[in-house]
Amino acid sequence: MSNIDKSESYKLGSYTVNRLGYGAMQLAGPGVFGPPKDRGAALTVLREAVANKVNHIDTSDFYGPHITNQLICEALHPYPDDLVIVTKVGARRGEDGSWVSAFSPKELTQAVHDNLRNLGVDVLDVVNLRCMFDVHQPTEGSIEAQLNVLAELQQRGLVRDIGLSNVTPTQIDEGRSICEIVCVQNYYNLAHRHDDALIDELAHKDIAYVPFFPLGGFSPLQSSTLSNIASRLGVTPMQVALAWLLHRSPNILLIPGTSSVTHLRENLAAAHLTLSPEILSELNGIVS
Ligand SMILES: NC(=O)c1ccc[n+]([C@@H]2O[C@H](COP(=O)([O-])OP(=O)(O)OC[C@H]3O[C@@H](n4cnc5c(N)ncnc54)[C@H](OP(=O)(O)O)[C@@H]3O)[C@@H](O)[C@H]2O)c1
Repeated sequence: MSNIDKSESYKLGSYTVNRLGYGAMQLAGPGVFGPPKDRGAALTVLREAVANKVNHIDTSDFYGPHITNQLICEALHPYPDDLVIVTKVGARRGEDGSWVSAFSPKELTQAVHDNLRNLGVDVLDVVNLRCMFDVHQPTEGSIEAQLNVLAELQQRGLVRDIGLSNVTPTQIDEGRSICEIVCVQNYYNLAHRHDDALIDELAHKDIAYVPFFPLGGFSPLQSSTLSNIASRLGVTPMQVALAWLLHRSPNILLIPGTSSVTHLRENLAAAHLTLSPEILSELNGIVS
């Protein structure tokens, strides 16, 4: 039995995916810029994920740039029928590796074509519009013009489903008035819970919520409560953090990132971890 059988599945637009997926950002070089130190190891992580029934991979052509998508293509193409690759557009990389907004119609169209070429596909499964009004946090601003560009590319058959990333509830409402929004990808984890109300609202609307930095991202989660609970349960703190997200709401899809096969296996095994109401309440106390 695969590690992730128990995490069950959820609707992601036109697809149904296992709730435990994989985020490919960590496969590029340091700072998500340039090639990985060990290309063979990166390819192995991707193949191991799919061999363990991961059927939801998150990526972007601005990881590397281009490199993460090229690794996915090399490792997994031709893709399994049930594999859903979610990418994002709206940013580009400066020559120094900085993250720069790329929100013009020309840049968005170019980004869709870059993703198609580097992933080796004719149609992108899901494209998230990554908002860059503030690179670090959701910030108000109209996304109408940008979504109109993506909706037109969708009508032309280049994009199947559309999602949003780094967005506010107002932007989600604006987006849903333009096209169907199948997922929202924002910063959220056990210790960073600004989107609690939004997650519940999206669950009612049957829209997937995909937390990025589920393990803390570049500053891995650290909490004595988390460590104590993990040692009591005989698992790792990262497994508890992922299991907490799976328990948090059924519309949460996980995309933990790793460049290590050992960590990948550990993360997928979190699907087996059942947390009691007492433990959940202790974990909920981390932010209250
Ligand atoms: N929409 C957006 O703006 C946005 C922003 C950031 C990320 N994302 C997406 O979200 C995905 C997840 O975020 P993320 O990868 O940045 O952060 P993350 O999943 O929160 O954490 C990844 C970090 O945790 C480490 N790690 C993973 N599993 C571990 C384990 N079992 N034990 C110890 N350390 C572990 C990884 O190092 P090792 O490589 O050593 O395992 C890496 O440094 C990304 O891959 C990307 O696809 C989206």
